[in-house]
Amino acid sequence: MTHAPYPLARPRRLRQSAAIRSMVSQNVLTPADFIWPIFVMDGTDAVEAVPSMPGVVRRTVDRVGAAAKEARSLGIPAICIFPYTDPALKTEGCEEAWNPDNLSNRAIREIKNACPEIAVMTDIALDPYNINGHDGFVENGEIVNDRTVDALVKMGLAQAEAGADILGPSDMMDGRIGALREAMESEGHQNVTILSYAAKYASAFYGPFRDAVGASGALTGDKKTYQMDPANGDEALTMIARDLAEGADMVMVKPGLAYLDICWRVKEAFGAPTFAYQVSGEYAMVQAAAQNGWIDHDRVMLESLMAFKRAGCDGILTYFAPAAARALA
Ligand code: PBG
Repeated sequence: MTHAPYPLARPRRLRQSAAIRSMVSQNVLTPADFIWPIFVMDGTDAVEAVPSMPGVVRRTVDRVGAAAKEARSLGIPAICIFPYTDPALKTEGCEEAWNPDNLSNRAIREIKNACPEIAVMTDIALDPYNINGHDGFVENGEIVNDRTVDALVKMGLAQAEAGADILGPSDMMDGRIGALREAMESEGHQNVTILSYAAKYASAFYGPFRDAVGASGALTGDKKTYQMDPANGDEALTMIARDLAEGADMVMVKPGLAYLDICWRVKEAFGAPTFAYQVSGEYAMVQAAAQNGWIDHDRVMLESLMAFKRAGCDGILTYFAPAAARALA
């Protein structure tokens, strides 16, 4: 782009008033951009704080209908469910993952009863149910791929039966998108969408989440044999291409702010519906600094969310969803 030299061009002319600034403002952030991740737990009529995520709670299944109504009233279209599984239910075989009455599946039904217009997204990975804390089965210290994919398909089918609208495979096993898509087709769930955690990095930013779902204590080792190396950019494009080819409807980059270059490259290269996950550690950093009075909470929250829009994302999974929707109202 060429432009006239100073003083013919005075770019500050377009910044001189709120009215003119709003005319030339390029991106908008709205509550319709958000997917709100929530944590569910057993029990009745209770909420429990997650200490490493100030402002975030775990809520009992009977309280998720109210969360869905809150989302609806704020204009947030979708909720993503994560279960805090009783440690006694964690096994090496991860059988609880495809129990039709597990926490996650009960929460799906609760939301669909209370507020059918809210889209319900799930998480597909074995970590909340695995005594080893890994997303896949562990055999002799190795996270095995194909046997895990079979289990993920059972898990996805149970979620679809419960009424899930969007499956979110976050496990990073090879071949799982194709296997899930085929199972949805053959079992009568053609309309169930898949938002693949396609470019998911082995990140330290997930720490507070693992507290929230009670997986921190369980995890042995790290997830580097399945999640991606933060040094890699091109690999993300390969993963996105593969997952789209296997039948993903939407794709995700995760974490968010530290990977905006990936968001941009993915959107440029594929033009597919692209989401970023502003993960637990990103949320916790903003909350911690704001609680210390070091930054302005609302402004930093909205600026960080706008960055995803500018980077080409169509939407953002964010724990800020209700607070941001209120701030935008
Ligand atoms: C589980 C899963 C994780 C997150 C979403 N799904 C953690 C992990 O892979 O260890 C992280 C979300 C967050 O940090 O907010 N497969």
